Amino acid sequence: MTRIGIIGGSGLEALLKGTRIVRVGTPYGPAPWISVGSVGKEEVAFLPRHGPKHDLPPHKVNYRANIHALKQIGVERIIATNAVGGINSEYNPGDLSIPDDIIDMTKSRTTTFFDSSPVTHIDFSQPYCPELRKALLDSSKGSKVKMWNTSVLAATEGPRYETPAEIRMLEKLGGDLVGMTGAPETFLARELEMCYATLCFISNRAAGKQAKLSAVEVMDIGKRLMPEIVAIIRKTAESIPVKRTCNCGRATHEAQV
Ligand code: HPA
Repeated sequence: MTRIGIIGGSGLEALLKGTRIVRVGTPYGPAPWISVGSVGKEEVAFLPRHGPKHDLPPHKVNYRANIHALKQIGVERIIATNAVGGINSEYNPGDLSIPDDIIDMTKSRTTTFFDSSPVTHIDFSQPYCPELRKALLDSSKGSKVKMWNTSVLAATEGPRYETPAEIRMLEKLGGDLVGMTGAPETFLARELEMCYATLCFISNRAAGKQAKLSAVEVMDIGKRLMPEIVAIIRKTAESIPVKRTCNCGRATHEAQV
């Protein structure tokens, strides 16, 4: 069984041994190729969010197909990674964070599988799986990289970076981090009763907090932090108990009207 899925940028395949490629069709269209391989005793799937050639911008990613495909191959827990800018002035480029809350500021994305009857309202009082967050945080202990263990991620539409006024607004709303791919992944995973948590790497200070933003800078920090990110995810996959004790697997119970 492939119980753990990873969604992120390229480079994370390095985690997996003995990889095979799986193609999955979904009612929402095809998902990118999924690599399945082993991490210790666990079989783990890796799905490149932006496609294998990184040619899908954040607002064009087929989030529903990605989540549905992982569900179909048996995944119960999703560990995501996101590049983010730091809004909170205590956060520095090169730091990591495992957010515990999210503000969805995206504009054009389909954010639900529950598009028709029965009308379904899922609880997001805890937007990220507490069990998976704890496993990631435990696995990051001893790391030399600074880890922020509670943060609010503001998800923006992209593909452009934000304006300074937008960042001042998000800061007033309580955002600590800003990124383009946090939503609707979190929501869709919960709707299919999968656990979801994300390991964010801070690649820059948000707009208006440094002179200018560059996609090259974001890529460079991502590459620099990759060994640390791989190590934390590997430890998490190896250490997390097989049986889930959180409520994510019952998310649709008592949700329908
Ligand atoms: N804003 C949005 N997305 C990002 C940023 C940012 O500053 N940095 C990396 N991804």
